[in-house]
Amino acid sequence: MCRKFVYGVAVSDYNFIGRSQETKRLLNDFRGGINVILMSPRRLGKTSLVKHVCGRLDPDDNILTVYLDIFGCKSEYDFYNRLASEVLKQTASQRSMWLEEARDFLYRLTPRISFSPEPNSDFAISLGITPKTHTPEEVLGMVEKIAVRKGKRIIVCIDEFQQIGEMADSKQVQARLRSVWQHQQHVSYCLFGSKHHLMGSIFLHHSMPFYQFGDLIALDKIPTAEWVEYIVSHFADGKRTISTALAEEICRFTDNYSAYVQQLSWLVYTQKEEGERVDEADIKQASEDLLATNEVLFMQMVEPLSGYQLNFLRAICTGVTKNFTLSEVREKYHLGSYSNVNRLKTALLERDLIEKEGEELKITDPVFHKWFQRRMMV
Ligand SMILES: Nc1ncnc2c1ncn2[C@@H]1O[C@H](COP(=O)(O)OP(=O)(O)OP(=O)(O)O)[C@@H](O)[C@H]1O
Ligand SMILES: [Mg+2]
Repeated sequence: MCRKFVYGVAVSDYNFIGRSQETKRLLNDFRGGINVILMSPRRLGKTSLVKHVCGRLDPDDNILTVYLDIFGCKSEYDFYNRLASEVLKQTASQRSMWLEEARDFLYRLTPRISFSPEPNSDFAISLGITPKTHTPEEVLGMVEKIAVRKGKRIIVCIDEFQQIGEMADSKQVQARLRSVWQHQQHVSYCLFGSKHHLMGSIFLHHSMPFYQFGDLIALDKIPTAEWVEYIVSHFADGKRTISTALAEEICRFTDNYSAYVQQLSWLVYTQKEEGERVDEADIKQASEDLLATNEVLFMQMVEPLSGYQLNFLRAICTGVTKNFTLSEVREKYHLGSYSNVNRLKTALLERDLIEKEGEELKITDPVFHKWFQRRMMV
């Protein structure tokens, strides 16, 4: 059975809409061997899009795709272990034989089996790659070797790439990656992630190794018209009715943020039985539920903030978007000294709580913004 609305995990098929322009652009890049950098705020649809595009390549393209998520990689060598094992696994001619094949491509392997603490998850095999056994160049170069040996091109899609920016000696790690990757002829990379300040610090500064590494795509929101069609038709599939105007209301409340559109639609959907029609009150109730179900997360987001930082967010919620250093603004919102304001701004940008839009600052997460306005404006 298809779920009418899905949020929190990558979506596909029935639950995936739009993105036709982005799909075309990525397919062209993938086929042309061009590296891609894909950035957006959290939960807008990066992972879903990349998986969708990988699924659109056909055998004639002669391309193998590898997908890996490096969120849990805390060090450079964590990353090499993850990269090597995923590339080996996902390009193996026979999946079950990947460890045998691994020995053809990387020498001195001492695989270790470790059992995950999660009850239902598989055991994990770690290849035991360490600075003593392998140089970074050996591990990174392995991918090209596999591509050549198999007579195919490989695209390595690395999710949560901002994690590289959190590693010790991050700039040197980045330099090592780029210096190998830029010479590879049969492998290209799709690097994507959120947290603007981290992704930005890797890709947008000309002093950094990954500056101008490839086609830079800032993923946009899915337009209202596409969402409305999706919402109305999925309600209809479940024998419930929602008007275009109320579907638009869902988009407005969530500012078209993909995961929230799906979550709020689901909360509205569950209020109705078969044959019923959604009214204004249902949207209102579901919007309250949306704020309530996310409250724990939002509380976690504000808990570590200082009084000044909260005041800064309060100023934004009241409609101030720039000129925070002006003395009347500092006084009105209790922001402290001139230099304090700049520190506050940097800290909130680093936490990804606010972002720049041209000259102005805004709260990144639209639903958090609404929650903050209701609960934190003392
Ligand atoms: N193309 C799409 N069509 C419909 N819903 C989408 C689409 N893309 C994203 N979504 C919604 O957004 C949610 C998050 O999607 P996804 O995990 O792909 O985003 P992400 O940008 O990779 O998030 P994160 O920043 O957490 O990694 C999905 O669960 C789904 O509800
Ligand atoms: Mg993702």
